[in-house]
Amino acid sequence: MLKVYRGELLHFLANPAKVTLEDSYQHIEDGLLIIKDGLVEQIGKAADLLPTLDDDIDIIHYEGGLIMPGFIDTHVHYPQTEMIASYGEQLLEWLQNYTFPFERQFADFEHGKNVAEFFLTQLLEAGTTTALVFGTVHKESVDAFFTVAQQKKLRMICGKVLMDQNCPDYLSDTAQSGYDDSKALIEKWHNTDRLQYAITPRFAPTCSKEQLNKAGQLLNENPSVYLHTHLSENKDEIAWVSELFPNSKNYLDVYDQSKLLGRRSVFAHGVHLHDSECKRLGETDSAIAFCPSSNLFLGSGLFNLTQAQKFDVNVGYGTDIGAGTTFSMLRTINEGYKTQQLRSDKLSPFQSFYMSTLGGAVALDLEGTIGNFAKGAEADFIVLDYHATPLMKRRMQHCKNLSEKLFILSILGDERHVKATHIMGERV
Ligand code: GUN
Ligand code: FE
Repeated sequence: MLKVYRGELLHFLANPAKVTLEDSYQHIEDGLLIIKDGLVEQIGKAADLLPTLDDDIDIIHYEGGLIMPGFIDTHVHYPQTEMIASYGEQLLEWLQNYTFPFERQFADFEHGKNVAEFFLTQLLEAGTTTALVFGTVHKESVDAFFTVAQQKKLRMICGKVLMDQNCPDYLSDTAQSGYDDSKALIEKWHNTDRLQYAITPRFAPTCSKEQLNKAGQLLNENPSVYLHTHLSENKDEIAWVSELFPNSKNYLDVYDQSKLLGRRSVFAHGVHLHDSECKRLGETDSAIAFCPSSNLFLGSGLFNLTQAQKFDVNVGYGTDIGAGTTFSMLRTINEGYKTQQLRSDKLSPFQSFYMSTLGGAVALDLEGTIGNFAKGAEADFIVLDYHATPLMKRRMQHCKNLSEKLFILSILGDERHVKATHIMGERV
């Protein structure tokens, strides 16, 4: 069964930082997106493709907007949805005072399902169709999340938090129970429909060496699962890690010694990295989730994208709810632009739209599956509306080219500008 959508199309073919701009994307003013059984069959100019279609095919026409692949959020905590906008602390106090008490509630499967339902609805309304998601230490939190994501037919990656030290007793597992619970969840969920599992040590301070080593063992036993954790977010955190792990060369080395780096490893933040750490991330093909709204909100610092690019590190965007302050990828790009301005670096709209789609897919090792309109890719896509707000509508009147259009969308845009979200070709 074919589904056909018509409108202005944009998707990326490569990283604009690595190829010429013209080679990095495809933009079709009046195009068709043809979908077969939920997968991209073909895209092209409407004038070329319309004559090839049967007369009785329905075509859904989106005017005054941009059809593009769904956004990919490479770092977010669903259990922190209801604690977004918690006042006054930086990372370590914020975790103690707000986060841990909130996460306690996710021992309850029904509570988890209720929050997951809301969380996923918010993501879809913001145009995000895939995310790499933290659960809590409770395996019920992951069962709840995957149950809801499966009902919605989403491509989602999630995992149970591992933490066995420096946390409240009520949130603590052990190296062995964390291993056993994660293993059981992998067997139950990994590659079930569109769901995938991520082994999820919270961060070095809350994981014993034994726990990190067991995480490495589990990763080695299951090479197609992900590794998802936090890295070098906050200066006090980094100082604490060097006290806790005196035999490590630097923060990343703690994870490296436990064999946690690799093609499916995603490290959130990486705000204060040494060149040697970036180099190691690049050579192991590991990824960083750049979380600008969170890094500003918690006062963590300004991510050095130029440094990451210099060492060829894969970078996607993360909202990092609930330290991040928005589900919207457009608003996240806005914050990303401002963080780079504060570094006197220019973050182009092409680079940002790449990182929030195909770049996110590359960071998650899902290129070809999601992130662009390559033939055979899963047809998760969105429609951005240039006219959803009076201000954007007025501003767009003075817009001369695609670069400006994308920049205006990302600086003035939010959930209101996401007119429609489609999963496997179906509007949701
Ligand atoms: N580092 C360890 N846990 C967390 C968390 O929940 N949020 C953020 N932003 N950083 C962390
Ligand atoms: Fe986080």
